[in-house]
Amino acid sequence: MIEEPPKVLFTEEAIRGRVDELAKQIGRDYADADELILVGVLRGAFVFLADLARRLTIPRRVDFIAVASYADSTSPTGAVRLIMDLRISIEGKHVLIVEDIVDTGATLAYLMDMLRARHPASLRSCALLYKTKHRDVEVNVDYLGFEIPDDWVVGYGLDYADQYRTLPHIGVIHPPK
Ligand code: PRP
Repeated sequence: MIEEPPKVLFTEEAIRGRVDELAKQIGRDYADADELILVGVLRGAFVFLADLARRLTIPRRVDFIAVASYADSTSPTGAVRLIMDLRISIEGKHVLIVEDIVDTGATLAYLMDMLRARHPASLRSCALLYKTKHRDVEVNVDYLGFEIPDDWVVGYGLDYADQYRTLPHIGVIHPPK
């Protein structure tokens, strides 16, 4: 456990404001869609998804998917494996993947490939946080909350060793090397 409290990067208010803006933007873009399927990526996205889903006013459904990364893999997209699949069939549906953070991009690249193969009507991504750093595989994020430096961020669903997930704001910590 780290002794120092996380240094605040985004306050609750700043997050609320940005989530409102994202919900408005998504609502406009899907105004003519019969329904939008929000796919939350467990576990980190659960807080962001809960807020975003409740601020949207278009018809929507929520489902979850869980993945894990192999820390020692050298392949950028082969590093991810499926832990829990969706319950909803997404064939012919408008689908939005909702992530808390894009770091290496491996998780989002894996999910885009996997879900695209199920023939949704459309497939886009939304991430609250996006690390602006070099990536071997570039991933496209259609709806992006904040760009951040390559620091360890916690709170609002994000953890360090399963700590801090329920912090209402987003902060930076410096884990021991
Ligand atoms: C985090 C986050 C994303 C992923 C992004 O999940 O929730 O899903 O990492 O990293 P990437 O861009 O390098 O693939 P994590 O593996 O920490 O699991 P958790 O969500 O259960 O905490």
